[in-house]
Amino acid sequence: MSRLEFPTVPLPITRIPLEKNIRLYIKREDLIHPEISGNKYWKLFYNVNNYLNKQPNHPKFITFGGAYSNHIAAVAAVGKMMHISTLGIIRGEELSLKYQENPTLKQASENGMEYLFVTREEYRNKENISLELREKFPEALIIPEGGTNDQAVEGVCHMLNNETQEFDYLCTAVGTGGTAAGLSKFCETHQQVIGYQVVQDASVEEKVFQLSGKRNVTFLEAHDRGYGKITEENIRFINSFFQKFGIPLDPVYTGKMMKKIMEQIEEGYFPEHSSVLVFHTGGLQGIAGANERLKQQNKTEINFRN
Ligand SMILES: Cc1ncc(COP(=O)(O)O)c(C=O)c1O
Repeated sequence: MSRLEFPTVPLPITRIPLEKNIRLYIKREDLIHPEISGNKYWKLFYNVNNYLNKQPNHPKFITFGGAYSNHIAAVAAVGKMMHISTLGIIRGEELSLKYQENPTLKQASENGMEYLFVTREEYRNKENISLELREKFPEALIIPEGGTNDQAVEGVCHMLNNETQEFDYLCTAVGTGGTAAGLSKFCETHQQVIGYQVVQDASVEEKVFQLSGKRNVTFLEAHDRGYGKITEENIRFINSFFQKFGIPLDPVYTGKMMKKIMEQIEEGYFPEHSSVLVFHTGGLQGIAGANERLKQQNKTEINFRN
């Protein structure tokens, strides 16, 4: 594949049966590609394709992320698929000697990604790093953390279609905000977007507004918010959700969002007869890393195979 292409068949929208009078469905964006899953595919879609249309002589993708980043995994996979070199700027200099022990970074490295490990302080000042890299690699595509920018928002438009139009609520997990911004910008006027924040970031709400131009997103805290936070309660929830419905969830985004949604349904947050569509934004590659940590702590692991 020399470009990211539109899927040939629509992604399934699966009903989650409930005892309540609410229609709950999940749209399986995670199935779009085994390695470039869910919202990552769409956030990269125009960034990558528009860049390649300019036919750079020395194409290269550069991006930023943490140790278990789904976005880093996705960019490395796109690079491999298109035979384009990739460079990941990774938060945490301590990882430089042991990144092979981290399933996400190991896999991305096997997909050809090179790394620059930086301190947390340097990572906070990513703009300076970008400026230096821009000088060094003038033709490279420098993609922001989480892939979130205007082109990403345009790509998220393709998560919506005729089938999604009838739902009252559109739910997505929120990290850097690009996905929520895309849903906000392109949803129908009668629809309400709910963004489940998995990490505390007071700037996200304003960023989503800047990107979408609309204030139709309700931001809520996902269950057990915090990127690195994996609780036994959430693991139990993810495992029982998989047992009941056959749908795997990831421990960082979709598991935390779905647990919160189930709690909201119990508490009567959604009115009777309303319809709720949850976007499965992927991130399943993160399970391997989470399971390694759980194993070291002698805790129950995530089970996502039948
Ligand atoms: C699985 C998953 N869900 C949700 C998100 C949040 O997306 P965004 O950063 O656009 O808010 C991400 C990050 O890309 C993710 O990997």
